[in-house]
Amino acid sequence: MIPVNELVRGFRLYQDEYEEKALSVLRSGWYVLGKEMNAFEEEFAAALGEGAYCAGVDNGLDAITLGLMASGIGEGDEVIVQANGYIATMLGIMQCGATPVFVEPDEYYQLDAKRLEEAITDKTKAVLVTHLYGQATRMEGIIRICTQRGLELFEDCAQSHFAPYRGVNTGLFGKAAFFSFYPTKNLGAFGDAGAVVSKDQEVIDKVKILRNYGSDRRYHNIAVGFNMRLDELQAGLLRVRLSHMDELIANRRHIAGRYLDEMHNPKVTLPLIADGCEHTWYQFIVRVDDQEKFREYLKEKGVATDISWRTPPYLQPCMSDKFGYREGDFPVTEELCAHIVTLPMMEYMEEDEITRVIEAVNAYR
Ligand SMILES: Cc1ncc(COP(=O)(O)O)c(C=O)c1O
Repeated sequence: MIPVNELVRGFRLYQDEYEEKALSVLRSGWYVLGKEMNAFEEEFAAALGEGAYCAGVDNGLDAITLGLMASGIGEGDEVIVQANGYIATMLGIMQCGATPVFVEPDEYYQLDAKRLEEAITDKTKAVLVTHLYGQATRMEGIIRICTQRGLELFEDCAQSHFAPYRGVNTGLFGKAAFFSFYPTKNLGAFGDAGAVVSKDQEVIDKVKILRNYGSDRRYHNIAVGFNMRLDELQAGLLRVRLSHMDELIANRRHIAGRYLDEMHNPKVTLPLIADGCEHTWYQFIVRVDDQEKFREYLKEKGVATDISWRTPPYLQPCMSDKFGYREGDFPVTEELCAHIVTLPMMEYMEEDEITRVIEAVNAYR
């Protein structure tokens, strides 16, 4: 069976470097808040673009929570997100006491700027864009509306490491950006890890205080903080992966390029690349009429698939119970969720595997 993703392949690509780094961290005797984290923060910020600062944290959800808190989002505020986004984005908003408000996605599965204004109320404080599946959101319309209406702009870049829009990496468009380095991500750790990025050093300084018990120096606590730190082992391993980012993204582009060139089946709608975007293919998503029939068929052909995700976040009990959302509230999102299927995409695939996926998809009737 060709898996949707198999993390050990990514490990094997640079196994010697990962093992060497892991051993050096273990032997160093320093495991939390040390030089690996500091170096990773600097290297990641520099790789993203000029003027960026970074604070490493323990995962992507906490990056969202801390980043929003450090930017002044809290109780009573509304934050606009796309309805087909990931539940963690909504949870981060809710953890800091604010309320997520939804907008439907566009044909690229990203927040639809044309519908944004309808969702703005007098409680709206911010727009939080999630660049889904490895592709940037088209930002002009969103930036214009945020500027006109005095709203902060945030980015969830958990799926869009080094996915530029008009030459600028996602993460550099707003007040702050939130990254996950969950192992499946394009820049993945070997456990949980995340980061907040901002061009505003004050935001990053606040995140660094909040992540470490609210302390600005040892045993001096100025905020009701958390323990949400990035550990040395993950930071060190992330530095290794970061140094290979270009090759890793090139591998994904090669796989996606073959899928796009060679898949020809009127029953399978391929993903679109928006003008100005350089897709990094965190996931390769197609649309079909009958999700289950297609998945069952591919399974028989030895190709594993996934759906990310069948139930939109606002219909998950933790949100529908609290805010009273019902089926039918966001029909574009529900239509998408009922038809999308994730095909195999990972850091390394054999040519023969790519061919088998293409042939299986093309033979679907
Ligand atoms: C869009 C998005 N936001 C947030 C997260 C949460 O990140 P983490 O799993 O590191 O908490 C994820 C992934 O898991 C994600 O895909």
